[in-house]
Amino acid sequence: MDKVGASRLRWLTLLIWFFFIVKLAAASRKIFQSENGKSLGVRLHKHHHRMVMDNGLVQVTLSSPGGDITGIQYNGIHNVLETRNREGNRGYWDVVWNSPGNHIAYDRLKGTDFNVIMEDEDQVELSFKKSWNFTNGNSSAPLNVDKRYIMRRGSSGVYLYAIFERLEGWPDMDMDQIRIVLKLQNDKFHFMAISDDRQRIMPMPRDRISGEPLAYPEAVLLTNPTTRQLGGEVDDKYQYSCENKDNRVHGWISENPQVGFWMITPSDEFRAGGPLKQDLTSHVGPTVLCMFTSTHYSGKDLNTKYRNGRPWKKVLGPVFVYLNSISSLEDPKTLWEDAKDQMSIEVNSWPYNFPQSEDFPSSDRRGTVSGQLLVGDRYISDKPMWASYAYVGLAAPGGVGSWQRDAMGYQFWVQANEEGHFLIENIRAGHYNLYAWVPGIVGDCRYDVIIHIQPGCDVQLGVLVYEPPRNGPTLWQIGIPDRTAAEFFVPDTYPTLMNKLFINQSTHKFRQYGLWERYSDLYPKHDLIYTTGISNYHQDWFFAQVPRNMGNHTYQATTWQIKFEIENATPRTGNYTLQVALASASASELQVRLNDRRAKRPHFRTRLIGRDNAIARHGIHGLYWFYSINVPSRLLRQGNNTVYLTQSRSKSPVGGIMYDYIRLEGPPETGPSVE
Ligand SMILES: *[C@@H]1O[C@H](CO)[C@@H](O)[C@H](O)[C@H]1NC(C)=O
Ligand SMILES: *[C@@H]1O[C@H](CO)[C@@H](O)[C@H](O)[C@H]1NC(C)=O
Ligand SMILES: *[C@@H]1O[C@H](CO)[C@@H](O)[C@H](O)[C@H]1NC(C)=O
Ligand SMILES: *[C@@H]1O[C@H](CO)[C@@H](O)[C@H](O)[C@H]1NC(C)=O
Ligand SMILES: *[C@@H]1O[C@H](CO)[C@@H](O)[C@H](O)[C@H]1NC(C)=O
Ligand SMILES: *[C@@H]1O[C@H](CO)[C@@H](O)[C@H](O)[C@H]1NC(C)=O
Repeated sequence: MDKVGASRLRWLTLLIWFFFIVKLAAASRKIFQSENGKSLGVRLHKHHHRMVMDNGLVQVTLSSPGGDITGIQYNGIHNVLETRNREGNRGYWDVVWNSPGNHIAYDRLKGTDFNVIMEDEDQVELSFKKSWNFTNGNSSAPLNVDKRYIMRRGSSGVYLYAIFERLEGWPDMDMDQIRIVLKLQNDKFHFMAISDDRQRIMPMPRDRISGEPLAYPEAVLLTNPTTRQLGGEVDDKYQYSCENKDNRVHGWISENPQVGFWMITPSDEFRAGGPLKQDLTSHVGPTVLCMFTSTHYSGKDLNTKYRNGRPWKKVLGPVFVYLNSISSLEDPKTLWEDAKDQMSIEVNSWPYNFPQSEDFPSSDRRGTVSGQLLVGDRYISDKPMWASYAYVGLAAPGGVGSWQRDAMGYQFWVQANEEGHFLIENIRAGHYNLYAWVPGIVGDCRYDVIIHIQPGCDVQLGVLVYEPPRNGPTLWQIGIPDRTAAEFFVPDTYPTLMNKLFINQSTHKFRQYGLWERYSDLYPKHDLIYTTGISNYHQDWFFAQVPRNMGNHTYQATTWQIKFEIENATPRTGNYTLQVALASASASELQVRLNDRRAKRPHFRTRLIGRDNAIARHGIHGLYWFYSINVPSRLLRQGNNTVYLTQSRSKSPVGGIMYDYIRLEGPPETGPSVE
């Protein structure tokens, strides 16, 4: 062989090797990505105080029998969790609870009893149990908790769920919060993604420590951050809150190596308060939360009181902790796109058929409810209208609208189609009421018949007609009845107190810090006056009725006015109705006076309501409150009239109400269509 030939051969060998390596990389990538492919089986390594689940993609280490996640090894990162935290402070479940009359306490739900539920090549499921009995007294929450972890073959992550239980006769407790907390490597995960339009480089925990706390400790002005360009911004974890219905995937991206860490919640059935309940997601830490229940954006109006020794059991989850990775050359945004794809896969696999607990029913042990919802409001239309895109759900039997305060039961919600048709699948067996509300229509709907769901049942309700609150023709209205204050005037915040993420984002403008303070800038001496027919609620109706800042930490109650004219043609007898829907209330009292601002006794008062704190937490709504206020015609006059709306409690700058919608109705019309 001549020299040239030899070197050619060497080149050829090299080339073959090169292709081989590329092929191998591609193949291993395929294995890495495949769902049920010929990937490695799942293995469980049992050690004295820790259990390690490994499927060749991810390795998860759990303390035993405590059941905390102490390590997650992935894609060459020895532990994506913060190794500088002690083992019990990396990945854990906890509850905030108290016995009535006592201070709140945290319980980390440390397991005392470890069991392997399932162990084969396709799946490993582990159980870490904590049991309570009377000899425990109130040293731990009166709960039995069974924390479960599942690893599956070829799946790039770990499933978490837990069965919470209280037995008959157990002592009373309040349980204000249940969550999973995961704390990631500070040095690696800097980019956070909550949704397509809420993603950013986040400050470091030390930036918050060196910063300047604002009106409350959660909000910090970053004065000297590690990443220079974040200087002068405000950080507050509540700016990253999300409604349950939109909280399906959130998490963090590490730049080196390019790895994503995601919390995927495939269903809302186990979450408290229904689809509109807001809660925390991810925040500086880097911290990833899975909130099952909390009093955020609801306060103690959410029923967290476990009483009278009533037995209770609930399965929370499964949720999926998902990890993904790309080469350093690819665009990090693809990790977010892939996380969303994985989220869809999880949502479409719900309810899962692989959890081993008897308490988690698979699809064939669940039922279906369907029907069509119409709206009957003869002042809008002679014939019932489609309840287009109505939210329809099953929740524990209760009063009208009670679902938004229910934290103990399961809830199953869907959005109807344009024609009001709804199909609710995979409902757990039990007793429910059917609830609904319709975007653009005021009030709350409840179907009065208790619905019994049995395994495999198919309940067809046919056509249901919701008759919303309505006594007479609309004389004027302010806002859109959609349970939020988003359509009203949301001011710009101070240039010195911005979160730059929300600049130029009209949909998230309300998430800026300090907006409540702007009221006193815009209305320094005189309160808001709204003239129907002339004013425009997008510009002229401030999103929250808060007290006026008088300086020196004193605040003054505010009275807003609605001016309107009653024309000659309007009947002068019979009763008018003022329909008032509130989107939020915090330590507030709304008083309504008619044409007499100084009347000693208001015509109507809510008395003290609300603890949802949605103004301070940058929510554009909290809980929904609805009032139908009867207004006898003698209180009004022909020509100009004024409704005075006073929010009389002024202790807190962030106390106040947000309106959803206000409507004045004339006296009922007598006409051919009236029975
Ligand atoms: C337990 O009871 C004692 C005595 O009543 C009380 O001081 C303590 O706060 C209680 N702890 C909890 C967590 O409720
Ligand atoms: C009650 O709990 C204590 C402490 O967890 C345990 O030592 C005891 O065996 C339990 N008693 C019963 C009857 O289960
Ligand atoms: C916001 O929009 C204005 C006007 O379009 C532009 O000048 C400014 O740079 C934008 N700011 C951010 C942070 O995107
Ligand atoms: C502010 O309030 C304090 C305590 O109530 C009072 O002593 C002080 O005079 C007030 N200052 C002004 C400028 O009103
Ligand atoms: C009108 O309101 C008064 C209370 O002010 C009430 O007594 C009366 O029954 C109402 N009339 C009708 C027709 O609803
Ligand atoms: C009623 O109010 C309108 C608008 O505020 C005003 O122009 C008009 O003069 C008022 N009419 C009377 C009779 O006061």
